[in-house]
Amino acid sequence: VIAETVRVGFVQTDPRFGDVARNLERVDRLVRGAPDFDVLVLPELFSTGYCFRDRAELESMAEEGHGPTVGALLGWASARGGWLVGGFAERDGSRLFNSAALAGPDGTVDVYRKVHLFDRETLLFDPGDRPFRAADLQTRSGRMRVGVMICFDWRFPEAARSLALDGAEVLLHPSNLVLDVCPEAMITRCLENGVFAVTANRVGEDDRGELSVRFTGRSQITGPRGQVLARAPRGGEWVRVEPLDLTQARDKRINDHNDLLRDRRPERYVR
Ligand code: ACM
Repeated sequence: VIAETVRVGFVQTDPRFGDVARNLERVDRLVRGAPDFDVLVLPELFSTGYCFRDRAELESMAEEGHGPTVGALLGWASARGGWLVGGFAERDGSRLFNSAALAGPDGTVDVYRKVHLFDRETLLFDPGDRPFRAADLQTRSGRMRVGVMICFDWRFPEAARSLALDGAEVLLHPSNLVLDVCPEAMITRCLENGVFAVTANRVGEDDRGELSVRFTGRSQITGPRGQVLARAPRGGEWVRVEPLDLTQARDKRINDHNDLLRDRRPERYVR
């Protein structure tokens, strides 16, 4: 059966750089205490922190296959009977990706590798090597279709558009935002694609001396008509789950004469 209303949310976290055990333990309490959900979104790199000094340091914390972070996501999915997506540093042979794992209660894992690397990430990670693709999720509420993008992917409208053209109804958006404008921009991403989006951000600072970075919180659930359905504060850990009426994301009509996707004119666009 196709889902009508699904329960989707975010966890806003406050990690300590490099302390994977401590960070997973804190998220464990938040996830176990969360209201029932079909899909729960965690931030980018939520178990390690963000601000790696160099590639060697990143490599020492990167996980190959089912490491501690993917293992934790699978454990929570099984314990809570819902899907989780969260960011982790992925090693694949000699390559390192800024990835997000989508883990299901059936034990499946799908990995997205960040396509648009931000700032110093370009010195640390390899850019994602796979196309944007939506995925069908079987949930307790029925079947839904999601697309994963990570943080700075928001700055390239092609990311959200590709996922919407591939049928995504909800964009799952693990983030470590440093620019305050993203929650506002997600209103436009949702409006132009007629989709929901769940942006899970972190708060606090990675205090790494000269490389220190502050994060902006304000995790957000956004609707296909540009509605802000939930927004977390700038500071503090936060969990929020909202019912989403997916029929709003499946109906792309703007009025009796216009349709968001059908009315595109790709033959007039510059490639
Ligand atoms: C970002 O992509 N983490 C800003």
